[in-house]
Amino acid sequence: MSIKRDFLDLDGLGVGLLRELLELASKVKAEPTLYCTSLAGKSLVMVFEAPSTRTRVSFEMAMRRLGGDVVSLAAHDMQLERGETPGDTARVLSRYADALLLRTDEASRLQAMAESSRVSVINGLTRLSHPCQIMADIMTFEERLGRIDGERLAYFGDASNNVAATWLQAAGVFGLELCFACPESHRPEAGLVERARGNGAKIVITDDPLAAANGSRAIMTDVWVSMGDDARRAPHNALAGYRVDSKVMGGARADAIFMHCLPAHRGEEVTEEVLEGESSAVWDEAENRLHVQKAILLWCLGADNLFSSLELG
Ligand code: CP
Ligand code: NVA
Repeated sequence: MSIKRDFLDLDGLGVGLLRELLELASKVKAEPTLYCTSLAGKSLVMVFEAPSTRTRVSFEMAMRRLGGDVVSLAAHDMQLERGETPGDTARVLSRYADALLLRTDEASRLQAMAESSRVSVINGLTRLSHPCQIMADIMTFEERLGRIDGERLAYFGDASNNVAATWLQAAGVFGLELCFACPESHRPEAGLVERARGNGAKIVITDDPLAAANGSRAIMTDVWVSMGDDARRAPHNALAGYRVDSKVMGGARADAIFMHCLPAHRGEEVTEEVLEGESSAVWDEAENRLHVQKAILLWCLGADNLFSSLELG
C-alpha cells in the first residue's frame, strides 16, 4: 500500500505537523549520519517545468543522503512537452517511485498531479506557492532569533509573487505580523491577504519602506521579476524605491536579519552591502533547504518512527 501525504501548501498542513517537521529538520542537521539509511529502498522523481539550482540539488542530495534513490527531469525532455497531461504523467511515475515533486508555473498542473498520483506529491514551486523555501526560512529565523510565533517580519518589493504569497500562508499558521512594503502595482492578492487575516495573521501593506522596517525582526525580499512573470508583468521601475539597503536594515530591530530565497540580483532588490553584511542569513537559508527537505521527505515517505507525534496525517 503506497503512502500518500502531499506537501503542497503550508496552510493546508496544520501547525502541529509543521512544528514536527522543523523539529526533525534540526535533529537531522545536528546529526545527519543517524539518518543515512532512513529512506533506503525509497525513491523520488522530480519534474522541473522551470529552472532550478537550489531546489533540484538540495532535494537530490537530501534523498541520496537519506539512503534513497532520486531521478530529476526537465519537462522539456519529457512527453509533457508534447502535450501529455500532468495527471497521466503522475499516474505513470507513481508506478515507479514512492514520491513525486513538480515545479511548475501553474498551480492547476500541480493539483492535477497530486489528484492523479497514488504516492506523495511535493510542491517544488508554483506561481503563488513555494512552501519548501518558507520552511527553510522559518528554520533559519528560529536558529538565529528563537521561535517565530507572533513575531513581526517585513517583506519588500514584489509582494505579488510566490514567496510573498507563501509568507502570507505562514503568517496565518504562526500568527505573524507581516508588513509588506510595495507599490500599488505589486501588492499581494487581496484574497490571500483576507485568508491570512482570517487565520489570525496581522497583515500591513504600506508604500513607506521605513514604516515597514520599523520594529521588524526580519527584512525579506525576492527578485523583482519571478519566473514566468516577464510576459505578464509591467516593467519593474515601480519597485526602485523598495530596494533593501543599509538604511532599511538600520530602520529594523537591532538584531534583525536579512533573508532572500535566492537567486539574488545585487543592486536591484538588495544592495551588495546588505546581501554580504553581518545581518544576512541568505547562505544559511540556502543550506537549510537541505535539512528541512530531509524532514519533509521523511514525512512524505512514512518514516513515522522519527517523529514524536503519532498524528502525522
Ligand atoms: N530558492 C530557490 O527555490 O532556488 P532555485 O530556483 O534555484 O531552486
Ligand atoms: N519568486 C522567485 C523565486 C525563485 C526561487 C521566482 O519565482 O522566480
